[in-house]
Amino acid sequence: MKSMLRSAILLIALGTAVVPVFAQDGTVVVEKDEFRLTVRIVGANAEITVRGRTTGWVAVGFDPVNMMKNADIKMGYVKNGEAFARDDFGTAIFLHSDDTKVKGTSNILAIAGTESEGYTTMTFLVPRDSGDPKDAKILKGPHNVILAAGRADNFSSKHMFRVKTSIVLP
Ligand code: HEM
Repeated sequence: MKSMLRSAILLIALGTAVVPVFAQDGTVVVEKDEFRLTVRIVGANAEITVRGRTTGWVAVGFDPVNMMKNADIKMGYVKNGEAFARDDFGTAIFLHSDDTKVKGTSNILAIAGTESEGYTTMTFLVPRDSGDPKDAKILKGPHNVILAAGRADNFSSKHMFRVKTSIVLP
């Protein structure tokens, strides 16, 4: 009850869509269209969970400047029960690349993934500030976020669904 009282429920108007944002005990949840994004702050790390309506790939991108450009993208999929993930960077408005191929480093500390009832859920544990210029600083305050989901189990195909949203991190 106490924690319920501490929880804040905000309604953020983004264009015509109204996005509910629930912030509780260091966790922020955003639900929009085919997606749910959960960010849980765990000390110096952020546990980022993206759920999308696909049996293919899902991705989250922090702090793009335009479309995908300069976004810190974490992408993943589940194939035969095994989770695969890649730390990417938005190299252009419609392009992304493995961080390690554009002078960055891979900074995903741990992953988990499940596929159920047509939805894929991927969790990425990442440092809030990895020091890699190809990563966003996932620090306290507002962040623009992009979410996308593709049909295939790979890191290269285009999305079926994509949304833009924003979050305020504790
Ligand atoms: C090979 C992979 C990808 C290709 C070829 C691609 C291509 C495109 C293209 C052509 C558009 C504009 C047309 C449209 O809306 O469909 C677009 C928009 C968009 N993409 Fe991608 N994309 C890819 C991966 C991703 C990933 C991994 C993300 C998220 C992390 C993403 C997020 C978005 C978003 C949010 C938009 C809308 C941007 C806006 O309206 O400002 N895309 N993409």
